[in-house]
Amino acid sequence: MTESAQPSPEPDNDAEVATGDGLEEELRDGLKDGLPGAARAIVLAADPMQKVGRARHTARLWQQGKLGLGRVSQRLAMPDRPGRPAKPEMMAPRDMPRRSAGGEKGRFALLHALAHIELNAVDMSWDLIGRFAHEGMPSAFFDDWVQVGLEEAKHFDLLCRRLGELGGGYGDLPAHDGLWQSAQATGHDLTARLAVVPLVLEARGLDVTPAMIDNLNRAADDTSAAVLEIIYRDEKRHVAFGVRWFRFMCERQGLAPEPTFQALVRANFRGTVKPPFNDRARAEAGLAPGFYKPLSAFGAPR
Ligand SMILES: [Fe+2]
Ligand SMILES: [Fe+2]
Repeated sequence: MTESAQPSPEPDNDAEVATGDGLEEELRDGLKDGLPGAARAIVLAADPMQKVGRARHTARLWQQGKLGLGRVSQRLAMPDRPGRPAKPEMMAPRDMPRRSAGGEKGRFALLHALAHIELNAVDMSWDLIGRFAHEGMPSAFFDDWVQVGLEEAKHFDLLCRRLGELGGGYGDLPAHDGLWQSAQATGHDLTARLAVVPLVLEARGLDVTPAMIDNLNRAADDTSAAVLEIIYRDEKRHVAFGVRWFRFMCERQGLAPEPTFQALVRANFRGTVKPPFNDRARAEAGLAPGFYKPLSAFGAPR
């Protein structure tokens, strides 16, 4: 193998954010409204690499203490849909062509599908910050989700680089909109959003990623496998953050976490919660079987 098994290093994307005498206008305007305004500018960015650059710049300002929360007494109007590039072509989930399972084409299609998931994850994490900033959450909440938003941008970037090394890029294949729709069903309720996005969707990633890594290793694509290893490690922490803040919201409302989780998932998530579960990784993230096992009996397997 001539390739190194290490993903290529990430460049500093500030160069793409800073234009002329300073920041590009939309982000600069957003930053005037503090972290939530910057989060909105990230969600609005249509060019994916501009979205990544804005996420990195915003995260750095927040983590260095150079960006505050701003006035969060009022709900910030977040866009119903994120900014997206002209390609990939968007299809209904049922119209998506079946992904070929093996070979280089199959691996490219897998990495493309994962890049699309990560782009959605970038938007979902910053949407969470902007949409629920008025809820009076402690600053540790924003620290955690800024870190998630930064890592989702890293995941998308790593996958795009890998698609480039394989001779293509993000946008080459169609994609679907199901993830964003799942997230938006919970736009009214932070507790429901935490139940569905980190504790159902991201926890599902923990279930399926190890087998993908094994398949990539078997196909001697160590570089793609190394990218998925990074994603897997980070996603476990995202689920842990989800558990932490879901429990916080339950405590604040005097609700029992496990039955509340099940009721919110049943009311707000149209997909199924089904085995096989990666019980060990879920437990490491603090997600006990008492949360999700009762749902798998409820959701009929497709
Ligand atoms: Fe991710
Ligand atoms: Fe994540």
